[in-house]
Amino acid sequence: MIKIKTDKEIALMRESGILTKNVLDLIGASIKVGMSTKDLDKIAYDYIKSQGATPSFLGYGGYPATLCVSIDDMVVHGIPSDDIIIKEGQIVSVDVGVIYNGWQGDAARTFIVGEVSEEKKKLVKVTEECFFKAVENLCDGTPLGNIGHAVQTHAEANGFSVVRALVGHGIGKEMHEDPAVPNYGAKGTGIRLKKGMVIAIEPMINLGTYKVDFLSDGWGVRTKDRMPSAHYENTVAITDNGVEILTL
Ligand code: MF3
Ligand code: CO
Repeated sequence: MIKIKTDKEIALMRESGILTKNVLDLIGASIKVGMSTKDLDKIAYDYIKSQGATPSFLGYGGYPATLCVSIDDMVVHGIPSDDIIIKEGQIVSVDVGVIYNGWQGDAARTFIVGEVSEEKKKLVKVTEECFFKAVENLCDGTPLGNIGHAVQTHAEANGFSVVRALVGHGIGKEMHEDPAVPNYGAKGTGIRLKKGMVIAIEPMINLGTYKVDFLSDGWGVRTKDRMPSAHYENTVAITDNGVEILTL
């Protein structure tokens, strides 16, 4: 069941959205060669707590951290660790969820560390563009399939592939609500978006194969061919005449 949010509820989600964005800005300003992914996690945890908010991932299905930090061939859900040190040339995707006044925000960015290969740079850029292509023509009445179509078309036109095993999602009082929001699919298919729906759109784009492996830690997802992957996510509210991006 898709939960439609009132204007008042969207105003509350705007606040959790801003905190979510602030975490990612803070991580972007802090990330440096030599830090561990656990260092980043602590920065995010301390900031969220300082705002009177709650990290939504921590304890979700037993997940042990505030952030997911996924380097290079890790697609998503990398568990922060003291033993994972950030190195020059890596692409580091950071995903965070924040609960504030009972409402959720969810967003991710992929950061470039130091000098990075041209193909990785292009992958990160195209992944962001996939998100913006997806929201460009969204409004009340748009079929959900148009999102996946836009992401897939742009990714594949650039020679990249779209992860199928994980999808975006509705979001509200729960992190994961209906509908599922795939990053692939056909134009004109699926339910129609309506004013008051709030969804997390999160392209996960791979340099090589779209296929992934699920790691034995129960969380981590890596590309099957161990080539790099990038992730970009925002929480988006559907309005009468377009979208409002709540985490940007
Ligand atoms: N942004 C991810 C998602 O949309 C985060 C989930 S990680 C978890 O599914 F640890 F909280 F599960
Ligand atoms: Co999400």
